[in-house]
Amino acid sequence: MEESIKNYIKNLVRTAIEQSVGTHPSMARRKKYVIANWKMNKNLAESAEFFQKIICNDAVSVVICPPTQLLYPSHLFIKQQSKEIGLGAQNVHWAEKGAYTGETSVSMLQDVGCEYVIIGHSERRQYAAEDDETVCRKVKQAIKAGLIPIICIGESLKQKQLSQTEHVLSAQLSGALKDVTSSRFIVAYEPIWAIGTGQSATAEQAQQIHAFIRSVLTQLLGQNAEDISILYGGSANEKNVADFCSMPDIDGVLVGGASLDPRTFNEMIQLCAKEV
Ligand code: PGA
Repeated sequence: MEESIKNYIKNLVRTAIEQSVGTHPSMARRKKYVIANWKMNKNLAESAEFFQKIICNDAVSVVICPPTQLLYPSHLFIKQQSKEIGLGAQNVHWAEKGAYTGETSVSMLQDVGCEYVIIGHSERRQYAAEDDETVCRKVKQAIKAGLIPIICIGESLKQKQLSQTEHVLSAQLSGALKDVTSSRFIVAYEPIWAIGTGQSATAEQAQQIHAFIRSVLTQLLGQNAEDISILYGGSANEKNVADFCSMPDIDGVLVGGASLDPRTFNEMIQLCAKEV
């Protein structure tokens, strides 16, 4: 399809969505994020180079989530270069301390400069058998200490094909937020079929799901749900980020593969910032 026709259709869809959703004052208040999830990638030298090259933009909050061994050096790199970059971990334990070999507590993460933590990523749900109850314990522990959880939810391909997406997402959300009253967290919608596959959801598909997620959050937390940033993740890259960030209920992106190259990631920051 010709580029001009594609853009015309995109604008039509966007206008229709904006008219149906309306503009809520909280939309302007909600923070936009571009968050990197490096997963199990990068060594010390590579991370030093990355932080040197990263260019921030005041319109969006940039957060980097390196693997555990790079958290403290990353904190030092960020401070050294006086950059406005938030630091996040990729996992945390739900206990305060104790005999949990190989685990890291909330206070340990804060001790090395973390302000954010990814909780319930689908890879951990798969490889570390994390269930909604464990996710909830971790979320509560993080919120209690003032660490901001980035709660990941998302359906599998099979669940999508069986039209179970909404059911799965609302179960994951109500499980993760059981007895949680604070709205000091971020949600990342990451369809499992889109993670690392190069097959992202379309911005319009994601917008619909994000509006649904916000309606579930409203049921759980009332009007405060309007202040919660909901990010899209799953093969987000420099080609699709502007489309995602232009949607009224998509408050930024959680980026895996495309966050490893500082040039690509910088491009994503600037493109998302333009949509704010
Ligand atoms: P991806 O990963 O961008 O490589 O698809 C996203 C994520 O898992 O957070």
